[in-house]
Amino acid sequence: MKIRILTYVFLVNVLSASFIFSGFTSNNLLTQKKQFKKKSYPENPIEGRIVFENKGCINCHAINGEGGKSAPDLGKNIFFGSEYDLISQMWNHSPVMLNQMKLKNIDHQKLTAKEFLSLRLFLYDLRYLGTAGNSENGKKLFVQMSCNNCHSVGKTNAGKIKLDEMGKYASPVYLAQVMWNHAIKMQKMQKASNIKVPIFKDDDFADLSSYIKSASTNKNENKIYLEPGNPKIGEKIFSSKGCFYCHNEKHIGPDLTKVNMNKSVNEIAGMMWNHSTEMEPLMQKYKIPMPAFKGNDMANLISYLYFNNKADISGSETIGSKLIQNKGCLNCHSEGNNYKAAILTKVGPFRSEDVFFSELWNHLPAMEKNLYSKGKELPKLLPSDIKSLYLYFNRKNR
Ligand code: HEC
Ligand code: HEC
Ligand code: HEC
Ligand code: HEC
Repeated sequence: MKIRILTYVFLVNVLSASFIFSGFTSNNLLTQKKQFKKKSYPENPIEGRIVFENKGCINCHAINGEGGKSAPDLGKNIFFGSEYDLISQMWNHSPVMLNQMKLKNIDHQKLTAKEFLSLRLFLYDLRYLGTAGNSENGKKLFVQMSCNNCHSVGKTNAGKIKLDEMGKYASPVYLAQVMWNHAIKMQKMQKASNIKVPIFKDDDFADLSSYIKSASTNKNENKIYLEPGNPKIGEKIFSSKGCFYCHNEKHIGPDLTKVNMNKSVNEIAGMMWNHSTEMEPLMQKYKIPMPAFKGNDMANLISYLYFNNKADISGSETIGSKLIQNKGCLNCHSEGNNYKAAILTKVGPFRSEDVFFSELWNHLPAMEKNLYSKGKELPKLLPSDIKSLYLYFNRKNR
C-alpha cells in the first residue's frame, strides 16, 4: 500500500527555521557561544514529506486525510511546538506503534539525523500552513463583515470598489497585506459610515480569500504565488518597520514570544489586522509612520512571528543525570550488562539534537524487546525530559 500525499503548493519553496543547539563537541567556549541557539534554515521542508512517505509513516498516518487510517492524522491539530516534541511523542507512543508494525508486517524504519530534522520541520510547518480556505464560508463572511457595503467582486456594482484584481493572488496573506496597507483609510470610512471594523479569527482570511478568488473575473490569469515566508528576512522587517521598537525596546506592546502563536499563517494574519486598529493611534502618539508592506513582506514577517515563538522547553543536565536512574535506563545501560547496551555515563556527546533523536528512535525496537521480555513498560519521556537527557549526554565535565 502506497498512498501519495496530494500537492502541497505551499510547501514548495517554504523556508522554515529551527533552533539547533550545537557546538557542545567543541572545547572552544567562544565557538560554543556563537553556535548556541543559532537558527538554521533548511533548504526545503518538502524533503520532510518525502521522508514521511519513504519511511512508511504514511502507511499508518494520514496528513489532513491523505494516507493511512490506522493511526492519528498528524495534520490535525498537533502542534510540535518545540524540537523535543516529535521525538517525545514517537517515544511515548512507540509500544502501540511497534505492535502495529509487527501486526502489519511493516519494518521499523531507521532514520538518519538529517531525515529526522526534515521530518520534524515538515510536521512543524503543517500547523503554520493551515487550511486552504472555504469559499462558501468566505461568501457569508463577505456579507457578515460588511465588505459588500463598499466592495464588489465578480459583478460590477456602481459606486463600489472592485476586488477582482485580488483573484490572481493565490495566498490569503496577500489579501491581509493589501488590507493592512489600506487599513487606516478603510477603518476611517467604516467608522464614518457606522460600519463595525471587522475582527478576524480562525481561518477567516483563508475563507475570504478563497471566496474572492472563486468569484473573481480575474482568477485565471497568471497566478501569483506569494511564498509562505522566510523568517530570516522577517526578522529584519520586524526591526525596520518599528515592531521591535514597540514590542522589545519600549515595551509598549507585549513580548510577542510570550503571545500564543500556535496558529496558522492565516490566523496570524488576522491578529495583525485586528491589531492595526489599536496600533494606529499609538503610531501617531509615538510618531512612527504606519508601516506599509510590499512583495513578500507580510509573509516573511508572519513566518518570523511563528518560528520565533517556538515553545521554550526547560531542562538541565542535573535533571538529566537523575532521569537516567529514575527512568530505569541504568538497569540496562550499566557496566557489564547482558543487553549489549552502551554504558550511558559514557554515551555522547551528540553532534546535534537530531543525532540524539534519531538514535533514540533507531534503538527503540531493541529496548522494547528487552523490556517486554521482562514484562516491563517503556518509561514515558516528556519533551523536557528529552532535553535534560540531551544536555546530560552533552555535558562539559565528563
Ligand atoms: C504500523 C503503523 C505505524 C507506522 C508505520 C508509524 N506509526 Fe506512528 N503511530 C501509530 C499508531 C497506531 C499510533 C498511536 C499510538 C497510541 O495510540 O499510543 C502512532 C502514534 C504516533 C505519534 C503520536 C501521535 C499522537 O496523536 O499522539 C507520532 C508523532 C507518530 N506516530 C509518528 C510517526 C512517524 C514520524 C512515523 C514514521 C517514521 C510513524 N509514526 C510510523 C502507527 C504507526
Ligand atoms: C466602509 C467601506 C469599506 C468596507 C466596509 C470595507 N472596505 Fe475594503 N476598502 C475600502 C476603501 C475606501 C478602500 C481603498 C482604500 C485606498 O484606496 O487606500 C479599500 C480597499 C480594499 C482592498 C484593496 C483593494 C485593492 O485593489 O488595492 C481590499 C483587498 C479590501 N478593501 C478588502 C476588504 C474586505 C475583505 C472587507 C471586509 C472584511 C472590506 N474591504 C471592507 C473601503 C471599505
Ligand atoms: C506603536 C507601537 C507598536 C508598533 C509599532 C507595533 N505594535 Fe504590535 N502591538 C502594540 C500594542 C500596544 C499591542 C497590544 C494591543 C493589541 O492587542 O492590539 C500590540 C499587539 C500586537 C500583536 C497581537 C498580540 C496579541 O496578543 O494578540 C501582534 C501580533 C503584533 N502587535 C505585531 C506587531 C508587528 C508585526 C509589528 C510591526 C509591523 C507591530 N506589532 C508594531 C504596539 C505596537
Ligand atoms: C531494556 C533495556 C534498556 C533500557 C531500559 C534502556 N535502554 Fe537504551 N539501549 C538498549 C539497548 C539494547 C541498546 C542498543 C540498541 C541497538 O543496538 O539497537 C540501547 C541504545 C541506546 C542508545 C544509543 C546508544 C549509542 O551508542 O548511541 C541511547 C542514546 C539509549 N539507549 C538511551 C536510553 C535512555 C535515555 C534510556 C532511559 C530512558 C534507555 N536507553 C533505556 C537497552 C535499553
